[in-house]
Amino acid sequence: MTSTTMTEDRPGAVTSQLDPYSDAFLSEPFSHEQTLRDAGPLIWLPQYGAYAMARYDQVHHALNDTDTFSSGKGVGIETRPEGEPPNILMSDDPLHSALRRVHNKVLNPAYIRGLRATFRESAEGLIDPLVGAGPVDGIGDLAVAFPLSVFPDMVGVRKDGRENLLKAASLTFNSFGPQNRLRQAAQQEGPQAMGWLWEQTAPGATADGVGQHIHEVAADQGLHEMIARGLVAGLLIPGLDTTMHGLGLALYYLATNPDQWQLLKADPSRARAAFEEAVRLGSPVQTFARVATRDVEVAPGSTIPEGERVLLFLGSANRDPRRWDAPEAYDISRVTSGHVGFGSGGHSCSGQNIARMEAECILGVLAERASSISLAGEPVYELNNSLRGFRSLPIRIDA
Ligand code: HEM
Repeated sequence: MTSTTMTEDRPGAVTSQLDPYSDAFLSEPFSHEQTLRDAGPLIWLPQYGAYAMARYDQVHHALNDTDTFSSGKGVGIETRPEGEPPNILMSDDPLHSALRRVHNKVLNPAYIRGLRATFRESAEGLIDPLVGAGPVDGIGDLAVAFPLSVFPDMVGVRKDGRENLLKAASLTFNSFGPQNRLRQAAQQEGPQAMGWLWEQTAPGATADGVGQHIHEVAADQGLHEMIARGLVAGLLIPGLDTTMHGLGLALYYLATNPDQWQLLKADPSRARAAFEEAVRLGSPVQTFARVATRDVEVAPGSTIPEGERVLLFLGSANRDPRRWDAPEAYDISRVTSGHVGFGSGGHSCSGQNIARMEAECILGVLAERASSISLAGEPVYELNNSLRGFRSLPIRIDA
């Protein structure tokens, strides 16, 4: 299962029988990722007929060379079906740049700064009753409750039916993997939820907010209404689960690293750094794939042939000892710039500053209100083909 052997048919690549979509790998990816990193710069996964890269240098380079490493044929392990509507995540230039301009214009720094007071008020309203309340669920009560209380309002989504956002996201992120049990389970409720979500992207379907603004900016730029709807969906789908997992991981690391909690407590303005380090160490998004548009040598003697798919292990790159000192340590004083938890280069996360703002509010208010946070039970992981985070996280938030 864990064997790696050199093969002649894929020159310069090490063959691995590891299955990155197995429960064993997904529930504890780090030792398996180390095996892949140590095996070499380029891996061949025969089970999926795809290459893989798990070292920082190769992953970072591939993310930044969007001409050579294309997203247009899908960023999961399988080829994206032909004829799907344009999508910011799974498009290449020049279309991608046109789509990205709309997101960048709408989610501009001044707009995000303007959200702070509302987000902060919402964080206080959630956290105050939890302080000193005994064991609470860091996921249900905070990491899920908070983004659900601010993000759909920010986009302008109607109140009823918001649970569909989570089901649609689960379907999307599980669909980046193969047809395994996780993907099949997500397919039970996902398509109906996706139908609901798509209805919310119509012009006028959302209240005043980012959704409407996207339609206005897209229309100014001469983009078709269906493209604008895809851009609204392109916020609603990746905007919630990723952030929830990021917040959940940050709570876990702070609860299990009291020295780092003390640093945050002493200076709550370090909330952003505490979150950034959690995104590096925990990597809520574990993998995304690309397709090589030409033969590309990724390390001396290791070439990915044109047209081949390559799976990029972002979580592994973020823990590669070739790049990071003490990579397994949660250290909020670390210089985290260069981590690929939000991607890197042209497709890097267009909502990353929203996620940071959300985290700053939650972790900042916690640091101001609580004396300590600690685990109050065993966390339970939520398995997903491309995301990593908790389903439940029992914690105590002491007054
Ligand atoms: C792209 C992670 C939050 C919207 C990405 C990518 C990563 C990522 C790794 C790169 C995809 C690639 O290279 O193929 C995360 C994490 C988050 C987060 C870890 C929270 C902790 C958000 C939020 C939004 C969002 C809050 C929306 C407001 C997007 C979009 C893209 C993207 C639209 C595609 C950008 C493009 O292809 O140009 N995200 N994300 N994400 N993310 Fe996020």
